[in-house]
Amino acid sequence: MTADAVMLKLEGLRKSFGGVAATRDVSLAFANGSFSAVIGPNGAGKTTLFNLITGRFAPDAGRILLADVDIAGLDRREIVRRGIGRAFQVASLFPTLTVAEALAAAVQAHQRRETVKLQSFPLAPAVSRAGEIMEMLKLTRVAGILSRNLSHGDQKLLDIGLALALDPKVLLLDEPTAGMGPDERWQMIETVQSLWRAVHMTLIFIEHDMDIVFKVAQTVRVLSYGTVLAEGTPDEIRRNPKVIEAYLGKSAAGAPA
Ligand SMILES: Nc1ncnc2c1ncn2[C@@H]1O[C@H](COP(=O)(O)OP(=O)(O)O)[C@@H](O)[C@H]1O
Ligand SMILES: [Mg+2]
Repeated sequence: MTADAVMLKLEGLRKSFGGVAATRDVSLAFANGSFSAVIGPNGAGKTTLFNLITGRFAPDAGRILLADVDIAGLDRREIVRRGIGRAFQVASLFPTLTVAEALAAAVQAHQRRETVKLQSFPLAPAVSRAGEIMEMLKLTRVAGILSRNLSHGDQKLLDIGLALALDPKVLLLDEPTAGMGPDERWQMIETVQSLWRAVHMTLIFIEHDMDIVFKVAQTVRVLSYGTVLAEGTPDEIRRNPKVIEAYLGKSAAGAPA
């Protein structure tokens, strides 16, 4: 697949909960290897979109094409296996494992699918891959710490690491900087960005902090009331009158010169 081929294409996606149309008619394309932000007010349908892509919910209508193959409505584990990864809050599920052990366990569970026999834990390739993941996420410094004793930021990094252990082609991060102070947020997004550069996967993140979005994202998709209000580069989005009115407000667009 070439660099500008489409890795993930959403066509006419719809999902309602009771009377609430969380996703109305969403069509979007994400290029292979791109680094994109999804923004929009609370309740705009951002998390629902991720839940549709990862198979947590089946769409009421529409297609989800991963490298041209429709994965809409497939079982969640099958969708993970096909290459859609998501950082869940799962670090706390391994309270008695260290960071290195949790990652090696996740890698080995993934590799086991391709390996016929599983002898012992942890196998050398899993340990080695876990080491690479820790390096990429700057977690090597806490390799021997029990997961439950990690700081909030390091737990989030471990969540991302556990998703990476499954070798995703597309990685979805729902508000990776939530609950962090300003400095920690920048550190987190820089780590995410350097990870994306290292792995060359297609990365899509939801983020509320517009300074972060406009600084790091290559392209931005704006959702509002379950529909796509706008898409474009950070500069285009910052100046888009519809986006300013619906979401950013005048101040975010910068004071007139
Ligand atoms: N599992 C669910 N059950 C019922 N309503 C839901 C569910 N998930 C989301 N919604 C509704 O869908 C709309 C969009 O929510 P969500 O996707 O979480 O928005 P965002 O992540 O942009 O804040 C909201 O009105 C929300 O209440
Ligand atoms: Mg959300």
